[in-house]
Amino acid sequence: MDTDHSFSSLNRSLFGDDFAWGVSTAALQIEGSCDVDGKSASIWDTFSSKKGKILNGDTPTHACDFYKDYKRDIDLVKELNIPNFRFSIAWSRVLPKGTGEVNQAGIDHYNKVIDYCLEQGVEPWITVYHWDLPQILEDNGGWTNRKIVTWFSNFVTVCAKSFGDRVKHWMVMNEPAVFTGAGYFLGIHAPGRTGLKNFLPAIHHVVLSIVAGARILRELCPDAQIGNTFSCSYIEPYADKPKHIAAAKRADALINRLYIEPLLGLGYPTDEVKALKGINKYILPGDEADMSFDFDFIGIQNYTREIVKYSFFTPYIGASLVKAQDRGVELTDMKWEVYPPCIYEMIKKFNAYPQIKKIIITENGAAFPDTVFNNEVDDQRRVTYLQTHLQQVLKARQEGYNVEGYFVWTLTDNFEWAEGYHPRFGLIHVNFETQQRIIKASGRWFAEFLSSV
Ligand code: NOJ
Repeated sequence: MDTDHSFSSLNRSLFGDDFAWGVSTAALQIEGSCDVDGKSASIWDTFSSKKGKILNGDTPTHACDFYKDYKRDIDLVKELNIPNFRFSIAWSRVLPKGTGEVNQAGIDHYNKVIDYCLEQGVEPWITVYHWDLPQILEDNGGWTNRKIVTWFSNFVTVCAKSFGDRVKHWMVMNEPAVFTGAGYFLGIHAPGRTGLKNFLPAIHHVVLSIVAGARILRELCPDAQIGNTFSCSYIEPYADKPKHIAAAKRADALINRLYIEPLLGLGYPTDEVKALKGINKYILPGDEADMSFDFDFIGIQNYTREIVKYSFFTPYIGASLVKAQDRGVELTDMKWEVYPPCIYEMIKKFNAYPQIKKIIITENGAAFPDTVFNNEVDDQRRVTYLQTHLQQVLKARQEGYNVEGYFVWTLTDNFEWAEGYHPRFGLIHVNFETQQRIIKASGRWFAEFLSSV
């Protein structure tokens, strides 16, 4: 096998014919049309309407207008030769009350999106839940209320019954550690809750819901591949000293192990992070049997590495991240370090779990300060980012590690949660005033790469 990892040698065929190539998106970040055709408010509609929560006061109200003009962007997926398109379902569109009565207009919309993908020869990959909980459910406790396992099961059942005849790849939830950590512990994402009293029950109810959802999908869509996606960062200690090494292990447990391990049947990493022990209060008799699932694939989403040091002042964990800005390294617009070997390390790390059958990189990409000049966006830094990360994926694959797909985050510039529209992650530039699209140099490079042999 060719093991030359220079850019010129990077071509699609080195990854093999069965390697899945794609691009990932999420409903809230692209759809806009937040209150049309029967949709109710999601926690992100509410959160973003509060002062000071989102950078520059941005809101997802219009985003990329994907709801109104999904054909424009699916046409672009096709134009870029991307075979697989990942998107999510807005819960508040299909079940405006969170549970119970189905909104046919919402179902019709996703049917049209799925059918249009298939007509264009693009395979739809669905994430059932990508962070936009109906506000009405949050008003009843959201993820802290154990009843959410039933509410979520209802949502998954509606999706599976409505779309399962055509959708062959499902991810139950996206990055549980991020939406519970940022939304229910740190309060920097919707719904803005803080503290262990919210975080711990949310974790456990999310785990039970992922398993319940995965079982429903397997039953109702028996020939589909069922997965879930997980955020992960390569973690290294600040210095080779026992206190920093121990702090890095605790951070690793919270950032990388918190969800994947219970879901693989290994339990919560409470030995490493003592503060997590309070979760036992929420684990009811019999729950153990409902906390793990035999996934067909695991999606890993990696962007950077974190350097961790011991910190006496950080409650519960005694560890803090050394900001990349203070480390003199190359940064993206998210102030994340550009460190391509991190993706190789993450593939290796997840390969160490024998329970994982198949790994797919369901997100990787970068935000850079793109500029439009003569109607072109020459984002060479993103081209390099993608190439260097793909080389690391190829290296892992050639060394025999299990990695069977790669999805770029993301198709178009979009609403980047608490950071608003400022960070631009897209292969395609969006002018949010006019909704005009420009395929960036990175988009053209990816299209060319995907047609290479
Ligand atoms: C993870 C999330 O799944 C996605 O919604 C987000 O925009 C990207 N990473 C970039 O932060």
